[in-house]
Amino acid sequence: MSLIAIVGGTGLTELEGLERTESRVVDTPYGAPSAPLEFGRFGQQDVVFLARHGKGHTVPPHQVNYRANIQALKQVGVSEIIAVNAVGGINAAMDAESLVIPDQIIDYTWGREFTFAGQGNVIHVDFTFPYTERLRQGLLAAAGKLNIKIHDGGVYAATQGPRLESIAEINRLERDGCDIVGMTGMPEASLAREADLEYACLSLVVNMAAGRSDGIITMEDIEQAINNGMGNARAIIAQFLS
Ligand code: HPA
Repeated sequence: MSLIAIVGGTGLTELEGLERTESRVVDTPYGAPSAPLEFGRFGQQDVVFLARHGKGHTVPPHQVNYRANIQALKQVGVSEIIAVNAVGGINAAMDAESLVIPDQIIDYTWGREFTFAGQGNVIHVDFTFPYTERLRQGLLAAAGKLNIKIHDGGVYAATQGPRLESIAEINRLERDGCDIVGMTGMPEASLAREADLEYACLSLVVNMAAGRSDGIITMEDIEQAINNGMGNARAIIAQFLS
């Protein structure tokens, strides 16, 4: 049976309902992943959970060792990944607590270790469709079964962080066609492709992006949207895995 990984982001540092069988510290040629891999079963499905920002949410987006995370999942036999990401909404329809399954991504990050390619390992993976359609459809179907509203498609802007953006930066992302903005979508998605792992993203909008609501963005507002919205994301994952 396929082994599926859930990579949890802000607001999802553990997977409720996972019957945990093992917590494994894995080492990779790229260093240690963000946290030990949590192995277990979810219904009939073997699952591995990885907290992208570490167990205590201590690793900021620009310091996540994305290569170690993807490599560790590959090493233990994972073949598909569902990534959960907290994002800001640029598209007015994608307001706080909305859920989005993006179908495209633009990489605005810099200075991250973003590839497994190097001397003697020249690879140019296809990235026409950055997300695996079968997994996207599986997540959409799970949301549909639960009657949870979800946006099918959207362009994810991956920014460097850890700061949030200026209004002008968000205006530029909008002109580029971006619908949501987050700090962890890349290089995770392209590394998964390089490692030949199927990958899809479930994004929870936790704030309207800069300039898209009155006033500034506060951590209190973000935390409230996480508290209100992550339950639906968890439910979709549980339904998807069942
Ligand atoms: N911008 C970038 N990343 C984010 C945001 C945002 O507004 N909200 C949550 N992650």
